[in-house]
Amino acid sequence: MSLHVVDHPLAKHLLTGLRDATTPPDQFRRYSDTLSTILILEATKEVRTQQGEVETPLETTPADRLSQGLAVVPILRAGMSMLDPALRLFPNVAVGYIGLERSHETAVAHSYYCKLPMLKGLFTLCCDPMLATGGSASQAVSLLKSHGGGPIVMVTVVAAPEGVTKFVTDHPDVPIFTAALDRELNDMKYILPGLGDYGDRLYGTE
Ligand code: PRP
Ligand code: URA
Repeated sequence: MSLHVVDHPLAKHLLTGLRDATTPPDQFRRYSDTLSTILILEATKEVRTQQGEVETPLETTPADRLSQGLAVVPILRAGMSMLDPALRLFPNVAVGYIGLERSHETAVAHSYYCKLPMLKGLFTLCCDPMLATGGSASQAVSLLKSHGGGPIVMVTVVAAPEGVTKFVTDHPDVPIFTAALDRELNDMKYILPGLGDYGDRLYGTE
């Protein structure tokens, strides 16, 4: 199983800020932005580079440059919080969007939007901060695969064991990068201890 829990001290500190129920939306967005930057950096360690040369002010030296295109696909709504960090790190990424919303009664996600570029050959980041039952992430990655995506990585902030099990069963070839593997889901399929509803906390809705 390819689950990477990023344990950088700053990532832990930022996650604590996100978990704190008293953190207001503006501060929540700042914590989320910096933590997403750390997670995306970790998740893109396998992006290909090519060696060439660069002229420093003193001499010519071997030098690496990125040689693989990237795509980032946030799952609406909460995944939008990870788009700006991805664009700042990789300004030339292709961007796609997948809209999925969980039913409050069944916790099953239904798709309401999908706009994807051709993903063939692109190192593709699927971004959604919460992996709870794993239904949303698994559906999204299936869509990415049907658009030629690969390699694909899943980037989340908090994952539940139930969701990780479903995701790796459905997509054993797709690694997950997360800041935390939490304990369990509650009866409403929210992550415990978790941080609540990520979208609501980002945007001040309920
Ligand atoms: C949340 C979250 C994930 C999904 C995770 O979205 O952002 O997309 O739930 O749950 P799952 O692993 O059980 O599928 P939600 O459906 O609440 O939509 P929102 O982002 O628009 O608030
Ligand atoms: N979606 C969230 O935003 N939080 C959870 O705990 C579960 C799903």
